[in-house]
Amino acid sequence: MRNAFSVERLHVPRQPSMIPGTNGIREALSTATTADSNGWLPLTKELWMPDLLPLTVEEVLTTTRSVRKRLDLERPVEHEVIEQCLRIAMQTPSGSNRQAWQWLFIEDPAIKQKLADIYRKQFDVTYRVTPVGAYDDPKTQAQAVRRRESAVWLADHFEDVPLIMIPCQAGRVDGAGVGEQAGFWGSLLPAVWNFMLALRTRGLGSAWVTMNLARPEGERETAEVLGIPYETYTQAGMFPIGYTKGTDFKPIPTPEVSAVLHWDRW
Ligand SMILES: Cc1cc2nc3c(=O)[nH]c(=O)nc-3n(C[C@H](O)[C@H](O)[C@H](O)COP(=O)(O)O)c2cc1C
Repeated sequence: MRNAFSVERLHVPRQPSMIPGTNGIREALSTATTADSNGWLPLTKELWMPDLLPLTVEEVLTTTRSVRKRLDLERPVEHEVIEQCLRIAMQTPSGSNRQAWQWLFIEDPAIKQKLADIYRKQFDVTYRVTPVGAYDDPKTQAQAVRRRESAVWLADHFEDVPLIMIPCQAGRVDGAGVGEQAGFWGSLLPAVWNFMLALRTRGLGSAWVTMNLARPEGERETAEVLGIPYETYTQAGMFPIGYTKGTDFKPIPTPEVSAVLHWDRW
């Protein structure tokens, strides 16, 4: 079935918003029964991909932000959506194609409460009590203040997010050299990021969160709560997940490319 997933080829109008169950694309596709003048076959509900936001690849890549305050705490996240995102994440390369990852998703309120407490043990004695940095540029200053408010909000609401994801990978690299670290983290973190991109295309969001691992005991305490075999599996963070309130996220300002780009030599 060629081009089975191409909405454009079927001339189905793009929708301004994507809400599962109310998506006009799905309705339009389900009623199309004949091939178009190019011979493209109609999509059916069976072939149809999940509802996706009408974003280009570049829009997804440049607008996947850390979402904290805009996580919808009221709306449950379906297991099916997480499975779809994980299927996508599992297409990511890993060293020797080991795919040594394991992914935990926590929705039990009592367990989320324990994880939130572990997070705050670090957050409350460091980030929360550290003054926001002072910047000359008022815009940068305002961003720093917003980032702080957002981070504090998440710390205060961690147990309330619909899901918490803990990505893990077989092996431990505590004290290892750069080569081993690079291979280890390079075999997991791109998959985590692809997972976050897949969330974004489905109207969900997350934030990259590692502060629970900042205290040496943080990872072990998390492992004990979740039954992760600490000696043989390493955790990469603690990711809150939920549908986002609204789906309009913007690219952030960055320095000129010339400030970071090198050709041939440093
Ligand atoms: C490795 C890493 C660790 C992070 N740890 C935390 C964290 O513990 N808590 C938190 O609220 N945000 C955390 N963040 C989110 C950053 O603050 C955020 O990515 C950054 O401010 C840029 O914002 P953006 O993701 O919206 O572009 C982390 C991000 C990265 C990449």
